[in-house]
Amino acid sequence: LVASMEQVEETYIMVKPDGVQRGLEHYKDLNSKPFFPKLIEYITSGPVVCMAWEGAGVVASARKLIGSTDPLQAEPGTIRGDLAVQTGRNVVHGSDSPENGKREIGLWFKEGELCQWTPAQAQWLR
Ligand code: TYD
Repeated sequence: LVASMEQVEETYIMVKPDGVQRGLEHYKDLNSKPFFPKLIEYITSGPVVCMAWEGAGVVASARKLIGSTDPLQAEPGTIRGDLAVQTGRNVVHGSDSPENGKREIGLWFKEGELCQWTPAQAQWLR
């Protein structure tokens, strides 16, 4: 019994039509945009790596690191500037406001999935 419980399983997960139509998803603010269907196709096309960053001014500093939405406008040295070519394949997402940061972290993580931590007394940073 134990062995069978440990077997690798598959499960089918689906956002049902009401979930989609009610815009209960990450990019709901963009659902009237012409590129929305392609954006959803792209963002659901494979696994993603989710991170929650915390820090003073981290929304703006993360977006600076990420670069402009259109990789051709993004500065060299930014993630999109160095690693992306098209707007529709721009590699990385970062929340555009602290409010959306909280909302999006709530969408992607459950309570308890984020580790609590206390910064060490970082002598080497002084
Ligand atoms: P947006 O929130 O405007 O940009 P950002 O990701 O920089 O906050 O748009 C969300 C995503 O939608 C964007 O990363 C890529 C896609 N997108 C398009 O595919 N075409 C477009 O014309 C725009 C503006 C965005």
